[in-house]
Amino acid sequence: MTGHATGPDRRGHSKANFSRVDSVGGAILISTWAVDRFGYPLGKLISQSMSMTSLISSKFAALTAYTKEHPKKAAFALLSLLFLYRKLRSQARKSVNGKVVLITGGGSGLGRNLALRFAGLGARVVLWDLNEQALHAVGTEIAAAKGYCWTFSCDVTNRAMVYATAERVFREVGKVDILINNAGIVSGDWITDIPESKVERTFHVNVISHFWTIKAFLPEMLKANSGHIVTIASAAGLGGAAKLTDYCASKFAAVGLDESLRVELERRGYDGVKTTCICPYYINTGMFDGVVTRFAWLLPILSEDYASKRILESILTNRAYLVMPRLLYLIPLLRFLLPTTLFDAVSNILGTNHSMDRFKGRNVVPPLTGPLPASAGGAPAPNALPAGRTGHH
Ligand SMILES: NC(=O)c1ccc[n+]([C@@H]2O[C@H](COP(=O)([O-])OP(=O)(O)OC[C@H]3O[C@@H](n4cnc5c(N)ncnc54)[C@H](O)[C@@H]3O)[C@@H](O)[C@H]2O)c1
Repeated sequence: MTGHATGPDRRGHSKANFSRVDSVGGAILISTWAVDRFGYPLGKLISQSMSMTSLISSKFAALTAYTKEHPKKAAFALLSLLFLYRKLRSQARKSVNGKVVLITGGGSGLGRNLALRFAGLGARVVLWDLNEQALHAVGTEIAAAKGYCWTFSCDVTNRAMVYATAERVFREVGKVDILINNAGIVSGDWITDIPESKVERTFHVNVISHFWTIKAFLPEMLKANSGHIVTIASAAGLGGAAKLTDYCASKFAAVGLDESLRVELERRGYDGVKTTCICPYYINTGMFDGVVTRFAWLLPILSEDYASKRILESILTNRAYLVMPRLLYLIPLLRFLLPTTLFDAVSNILGTNHSMDRFKGRNVVPPLTGPLPASAGGAPAPNALPAGRTGHH
């Protein structure tokens, strides 16, 4: 069966022919061995699955017959099951009453919406933002609704400021139970046209700052083996798109940070500290003003209320991931299943690479303070709000 290493044989077969004969022989041998080794268990598995399928279909037929005979009883049973399911699901939600929830970028959009929702559930909400006016407005809104809220002016890219403000939070409010890394910015231009400083800034706000806030608040969570770190990433952290190079890259990094953190916590045995990674498509908060979607029925621009409601729900139920709309759960799967040209063609058909063509975004550029080099120290942010909080009851 085995061929010689060099030259044609007596019958004039070349080495290549010998190799083919070898391969066929080898394949037959391996197949014989595989059938011998796995054939029986495989056959058993197939026969078991077949008997299970026939059992399920006979039960299903019996159920259909019963439903036809007793429609009222069947409807009642179905409603009871639904009720039970909803009850169990709502019981699985954790309570945030009296818990400290810190949201970065809490002055507008998702951050503001989530702050109002958490405050409505009795949480003690701590908001960080660069935009003091916006912070003040949200604090006042929460106070008017008799919620608890502390606001701190803080540039999350400024490491020293993050640590100093975290100290103030510990002193003035207490240990943070849920940290929501939400502050984010976008450039929205061709890579050749984005100023270098803006690329750096995007990374600092969208992901590097997460390290500073996690380092500030995770140790206390670990001590109690209780807490929750939420990463507001994006669908842009699952797949790339034109005119979003720095944004997508920073969001991919945020998704990677969340996943590594989750497995690190598991590995270290901190089962009481949860993580949630949020990956939404465009939301109408104003951050992505001007973007368009080609097939709104398939890939809708989400409403801020809908997105915030689902984010809240996923945090309360300790979900590891939330991707909105659901279709986008397919991105990671399709990227490696489909040939790249086909994957890119699907993105083009869906219009994602043209979605930023008329992007305007927010015209307000918040004042910058950081990032400062490690040795620079840095002072806590000047806080326009008395005692760094509003609506304190
Ligand atoms: N809007 C969308 O379409 C969309 C889609 C997917 C993901 N996201 C993500 O959701 C998060 C919230 O976005 P949004 O739509 O509510 O945007 P937004 O612009 O309404 O809110 C972002 C907030 O972050 C604050 N911020 C910016 N830089 C900061 C800094 N250095 N320090 C502190 N605060 C800072 C801003 O002042 C603003 O209040 C972002 O991380 C964003 O990337 C948004």
